[in-house]
This record gives sequence, structure tokens and C-alpha cells, in this order.
Amino acid sequence: MGKIRFDDQVVVITGAGSGIGRAYAHAFASRGARVVVNDLGGNRDGTGEARGAADTVVAELAQYGGGAVANYDSVATVSGGERIIATAEDHFGRVDVLVNNAGVLRDKSLLKMTEEDWELVVNVHLKGAFCVTRPAFALMKKNGYGRIINTTSGSGLYGNFGQAAYMAAKMGVVGLMHSVVAEGSKHNILCNAISPVAASRMTDDVMPAEILEKLKAEFITPLVLFLASQVNRETGMIFNCAAGWFSRTAICCAPGLCIGDAKREITPEEIHDNWMAITSLDDAVPLDSVVDSFRFMTSLF
Ligand code: NAI
Repeated sequence: MGKIRFDDQVVVITGAGSGIGRAYAHAFASRGARVVVNDLGGNRDGTGEARGAADTVVAELAQYGGGAVANYDSVATVSGGERIIATAEDHFGRVDVLVNNAGVLRDKSLLKMTEEDWELVVNVHLKGAFCVTRPAFALMKKNGYGRIINTTSGSGLYGNFGQAAYMAAKMGVVGLMHSVVAEGSKHNILCNAISPVAASRMTDDVMPAEILEKLKAEFITPLVLFLASQVNRETGMIFNCAAGWFSRTAICCAPGLCIGDAKREITPEEIHDNWMAITSLDDAVPLDSVVDSFRFMTSLF
């Protein structure tokens, strides 16, 4: 296979002013893409804003010669999302790839989490992905081509302590992915989600230095570039990636069992008595859609 390149393609990366997003910006630009570097430039907890983060990365990308432009809007509003995509359209005329990457962190246990914390975190990660995806999707639909990558997290997928809003938002972007998958496939718009672990200001105080050294943001970029490329045909998948580890993860459904043939009432005692079979993940499979789950309701047919 030839080298994957993005010549003449336009890539929008949210939160590209630091961390993993900055690594994406370099990787795409080094392979010919024109890049919109979006970043509000705030602090890790979502306070503040500064243009320097996006401007610095745009200046760094000049070495590749493909063209890069900064955008400083917050992803967390509909108007901000529209301006981010308008920046791409105004400068480069199209959007081929969107990486929903912007993020903030306000880790607190459930009882300590305020409404303000909740709204800020959910608005950046989940509403933000919606606000940018919708106008990008409209342009991609017009062009009959698009690749969207959402950023989920192991915390959301598998659970963690003290991150209620973050976990809820990160599962939410998986739900949003399903929506793009269902509505985008016929327009050649594909959407996948990645769950990265990488050294950045988000993680620099949660892991020891010798581990962080092995968690380079550059180890995440190959998967995202592949998913963003014309070579990719997958849609609706979720991937773990960290330190050179790449693995698919999935929400799966097990066959379970049908009790009572849908002809009689079922008792809680029968649930107890069949608990092993109900909770077994033997033969669990990922599903294409909610309709796909109907095949296990054998009593329906
Ligand atoms: P980071 O803090 O270095 O980068 C996030 C960027 O998003 C920052 O430059 C920030 O200014 C920008 N941003 C924040 N709010 C914004 C807004 N409203 N509008 C536009 N830009 C905004 O963090 P990192 O680690 O690079 O995170 C990137 C993504 O990966 C995030 O979505 C994060 O939740 C996710 N992630 C990271 C993990 C890790 O191990 N670093 C683990 C799992 C998920």
C-alpha cells in the first residue's frame, strides 16, 4: 500500500493547541493536509482563554507548507461550532476530516460535583462534539465524503472514581458516533471513536514520569490518521490506543435467555434462578443498531 496522504484535504481538529490534538495537527500537516487548528486556549479545568495556543501550533505547521489556520472559538456553543467549520470553508472551501478532540477536566466525586462543573465538562466534551459535528456533517454530505473521529475515554467506557461528568460525556460521544454512523454511511461519511491514553497536561499529575515517557501523544496519531483516511472503510467502531497498543473495544449484547415465551408473567424469582444465564457474556457480539438486538428476543418470532 502507498503512503497515506491528505493532499488537498481539509482537516479540522478541535483542541489542537496542545497535547494529543497538537500531535494530530503535525501528523496531518506532515502528510499534506490543510489544517484548521481550533483551540480556546484555556486552562485544564476550562477556565480562561488565550489565542496563543492555536497561534503557536499554526506557526509550527508552516514547516510543512500545506496551509494551516487558527480558530479560537469554543466548541461548546452552536455558534462557536459553526464558526469553526466556517473557518475551514472560508479558507479552504471544504471539510474532509473532523477530529473532535477538545477537552477539559474537573474531577470531583459525585457529591462534590456542582451544576457548574457538570455543565462545563459535558458542554465541552459532548455538546461540543455535537456543535462542531453538525455543520461539518452538512458540508461533508454536500461533498459526499467525510471522516469523523470522536474522542471517548477509558473512564467513560469502563468507569473510574470521581469523574461523573467526564464519564457521562465520554459515553455520550459514543452515542453521538452512532448517530453519525446511521445517518452518514449513505453519504460516505464514516465515524469512529478512539479512547487514548497519552501524556499531556490532562495526565501529567496522575501517572509516574517513567510511565508518561512511554505514553507519547505521537503514538495515538497513526490510528487517527488511518481512520481519517480514504483507505478506511470502518464506521461505528471504538478503539483503545496507548503506548503502541491498539485494540478494538465494543458494547456487546449477549444472547441471554427468553423466559416464558412472552405468553405469561415472569417472576423476580425466575430472574434470580436464571441469573447466571442472564448475566453471562458467552457469545456476546457487537450490534449494528437497536433493531439488531431484536434477533435475541426469540419469543417475538
Ligand atoms: P489537553 O488539555 O492537552 O488538550 C485539550 C485541548 O482542548 C486544550 O488545548 C484546550 O485548550 C482545548 N479546549 C478545551 N476546551 C475547549 C473548548 N471549549 N473549545 C476549544 N478547545 C478547547 O488534553 P489531551 O490529553 O490532549 O486531551 C485530548 C482529548 O483526549 C480530550 O478530549 C481528552 O478528554 C481525551 N483523552 C485524553 C486522555 C489522555 O490520557 N491524555 C485519556 C482519555 C481521553
